[in-house]
Amino acid sequence: MHETPESDGGRSRSRWTRAQAASIERRHGNVAPPAGAPAADPFPELHVWDTWLLRDRHGDIADVGGYRLAFSLTAPADLLPGKRHDVAEIRCFYSPDGREWRDAGPVFDGGALGQRQWAGSALYDDGEVYLYYTAAGDETADEMTYTQRIAVAHGGTVRADEGGIELSGPWTHETLLTPDGEWYETEAQSRGMTYTFRDPWFFEDPATGETHLLFEANAPAPEREGDDPATAHRREFNGCVGVAVSESGDPLSWELRPLLLDAVEVNQELERPHVVVADGRYYLFVCSHVHTFAPGVTGPDGLYGFVADALDGEYRPLNGSGLVATNPPEAPFQAYSWMAFAHDEEVLVQSFLNYHDFAGDSLDAIADLPEAEQRERFGGTLAPTLRLAVDGDRTRLRGTLDAWRIPTPDEPLPPADDSELPDGDA
Ligand code: FRU
Repeated sequence: MHETPESDGGRSRSRWTRAQAASIERRHGNVAPPAGAPAADPFPELHVWDTWLLRDRHGDIADVGGYRLAFSLTAPADLLPGKRHDVAEIRCFYSPDGREWRDAGPVFDGGALGQRQWAGSALYDDGEVYLYYTAAGDETADEMTYTQRIAVAHGGTVRADEGGIELSGPWTHETLLTPDGEWYETEAQSRGMTYTFRDPWFFEDPATGETHLLFEANAPAPEREGDDPATAHRREFNGCVGVAVSESGDPLSWELRPLLLDAVEVNQELERPHVVVADGRYYLFVCSHVHTFAPGVTGPDGLYGFVADALDGEYRPLNGSGLVATNPPEAPFQAYSWMAFAHDEEVLVQSFLNYHDFAGDSLDAIADLPEAEQRERFGGTLAPTLRLAVDGDRTRLRGTLDAWRIPTPDEPLPPADDSELPDGDA
């Protein structure tokens, strides 16, 4: 009974079910090779984590005067890694070739919304840059808060010359979306772990031309009459992928729509949702953590995915379980915040190097280590890029590229070498 998708506005809701998630396991083709300590860190003075690329309306990586631009959450590297979320700041990096990257500095000059800024996406449209981000924390409060709203900055300028990229304000910052309490849970409704309403992702549907903003949220799942305590508790794990639409295509005006997929009783956080269209199918990817699975379901920190024939769904979990890519068991927190993008016939997956040298089964245990060790075991830079084959409802890792390697779609890649991929548990 608990597995029956509820319906929204006549459309049946896609759900990641407990039965599907029960088959999550590491196997050959979903486990990344051990990465070890970063081979080279282009920005040793910074912690760098969630990263996204400047793209055009169609999702192609934008070319700004011969450069591609990446935006990352960053913090000073002298900060304890676990504290970085509290001071996150978005920076721009740029590269002439997708190999060598330079720092264009923090993108905002003090006027950004929220106490800190979390992940988002970046659109280059008609020469204008739109920076979608999560305004985390209430800037009017004295203490640190966890309120989240979806915001945009626009009106800034980007200049490119032989010397590099200059991104400058003034930016106009606007709140675009807050949870409505019906489709998307508000902070006050949340019964479980910290609620989520974040990580906006711009997506234009190639089939309809309709403009969307995907985001991470929670679906209200209140305790129902007759629920036993265990069921009531499982329903606190209510992650979902939300969506808003801009009817006119205006990158600044959005209306909430019913969610695309929920994981009620499966997982609390479906982070950084994004879509890659391949062979006319919609591959919806999210990141999730071992500690956000509901009681009775287990899965590692990983990239999870779903496929449908239309953006609205109905979504089926990739590989039966949803698991697409994870870390090797000896380094289960090696990478996180995977972001997939199309490249020719394959999909590339970029992520950041998290605790590359830690074998424990909970991230909490890291905080018990001496501070020097916490720093040594943390990457804080991009991880090797993964190569992924997608074929219908199945995916398979094919090998890796160097960290910070972001080829343009027309750039040929060397033959994939999957001999380095571990076997997994099965
Ligand atoms: C994923 C994430 C995002 C959030 C950011 C905060 O790594 O949890 O959902 O925007 O990190 O640092």
